[in-house]
Amino acid sequence: MGQPAESAPVLVQVREMTKEFVQGARSLRVLEGIDLVLHRGEMVAIIGASGAGKSTLLHCLGTLDLPTDGEILFDGVDIVQLPPPQLARFRNESIGFVFQFHHLLPEFSAVENVMMPAMIGRVPQREARARAEAMLEAVGMSHRLRHRPGELSGGEQQRVAIARALVMRPKLLLADEPTGNLDTRTSEEVHALMFRLNEEHGITMLVVTHNLDLAHRFPRVIRMADGHLIGDTTGDRAREDDARAREADAAAAP
Ligand SMILES: Nc1ncnc2c1ncn2[C@@H]1O[C@H](COP(=O)(O)OP(=O)(O)O)[C@@H](O)[C@H]1O
Ligand SMILES: [Mg+2]
Repeated sequence: MGQPAESAPVLVQVREMTKEFVQGARSLRVLEGIDLVLHRGEMVAIIGASGAGKSTLLHCLGTLDLPTDGEILFDGVDIVQLPPPQLARFRNESIGFVFQFHHLLPEFSAVENVMMPAMIGRVPQREARARAEAMLEAVGMSHRLRHRPGELSGGEQQRVAIARALVMRPKLLLADEPTGNLDTRTSEEVHALMFRLNEEHGITMLVVTHNLDLAHRFPRVIRMADGHLIGDTTGDRAREDDARAREADAAAAP
């Protein structure tokens, strides 16, 4: 796990995906010609400037939004075509989301927040609680089960959000700048946690990050610009590309 899993089975295959937002009489094309394959157990970082389409790509992959065109095959099934009830069930069971801001419910404790997707998925309450406690232990939060989000640090809140995203044991974790709101050291810890969860549970993860140092620790890094995938490479190659780009920038500076 954690290695470029080219030989592992395909989990997700995106074909010729586009996404347009209609604004009045105009339509804005935000994703264009996206072709992407994710293998089981892969750890993939997505980088690219603000506005490149990273969040939109994640929303479409996670079925929070529908693409305008194209296919998203998940275990061979085109999820774009699923009727709404099946789509909701698919999302609940197969996809975990972590966002930049934790979006935990403030009136509920850590364990209640983590139980939520399981309750929505009609897991019996006792089992939902047991799963939530086990997941909180896996993210190092078993000493804060009854704390509310407001009583937790930023890093702890993200750990709880990760536990919530994983409580249904999804096949794919989509994380949109999960450490964008954290200090450097806490970001490192949260990234280390994601790598450990990938290794121990084999969860496939697609993680948007603006932090190039963290991105380059991923075995695979995808680069986006203006709604296109413009690079898809290993961490090592991406690091070399970056070093070259920085050298070129430095050489061009007055
Ligand atoms: N709901 C929306 N309606 C219209 N335009 C949108 C919407 N969501 C995003 N966009 C536009 O799509 C582009 C890509 O946005 P986004 O996917 O959030 O980029 P990133 O996450 O890479 O910063 C931006 O130009 C943004 O303004
Ligand atoms: Mg974004």
